[in-house]
Amino acid sequence: MAPRLSARKAKDHTVGGKVEAHCHNMVNIENVPPGGALPPRHLGSYWRMAILKIARMGHPVLRRRAADVADPAAPEIQTLADDMLQTMLDAPGTGLAAPQVHVPLRLVIFRVPLTEAEDLAGDEAPLTVLINPLLEPLDDEMEAAWEGCLSLPGLRGLVPRHTHLRYRGVDLAGASIDRTVEGFHARVVQHECDHLDGILYPQRMTDLTGLIFESEMRHRIAEARAQERERLQALQAQAAAAAAEI
Ligand code: NI
Repeated sequence: MAPRLSARKAKDHTVGGKVEAHCHNMVNIENVPPGGALPPRHLGSYWRMAILKIARMGHPVLRRRAADVADPAAPEIQTLADDMLQTMLDAPGTGLAAPQVHVPLRLVIFRVPLTEAEDLAGDEAPLTVLINPLLEPLDDEMEAAWEGCLSLPGLRGLVPRHTHLRYRGVDLAGASIDRTVEGFHARVVQHECDHLDGILYPQRMTDLTGLIFESEMRHRIAEARAQERERLQALQAQAAAAAAEI
């Protein structure tokens, strides 16, 4: 279920004798293209882009437990979600938690397009604003995969996460969200909700040799390909040996 991010009317404010137009950029999620960037027709000169500054690892806001959102339907929470969406699309990122934009509240947004879900339909996530989330791993199965984070620019980490997850919370209308998900969708939710408890992905890693710069990923990819080649060669040798015995 995708939240509706409503359009709001611009207001004119008089600042220092000049009239300035202030508003929140009108965001209609139906018009957000798969690539992420909003088309220019939504960003006419009248509209203000609300790109927020992203806190980086070391800032205390990323270490503390965020507070519950008292009224998910409050206008300022809608504004926060709109601005976070703009910020996430601009970065670009797959998800963003409110503490990452210096707001210590339990609100995250995320979106996993099918292409990033490695073509696994079950991993796809619609654009979601999740407020006051509750996470429940469904079993002990864990899987490791690469993650990045807008608060740790340039880095990638191989992070174990629960494969199967149920999560609950509410959306911007206060309506309940209750989903059972797996794979990349489950990973993104765990990553984002960790931000609400002051946890960054390196703290979830069990082997820090898997913490590398994104620019060096090519070496890991080459290693993985070499290992896969060796594995296939071993299988072929086994098959040949088995055939010789018949
Ligand atoms: Ni993050």
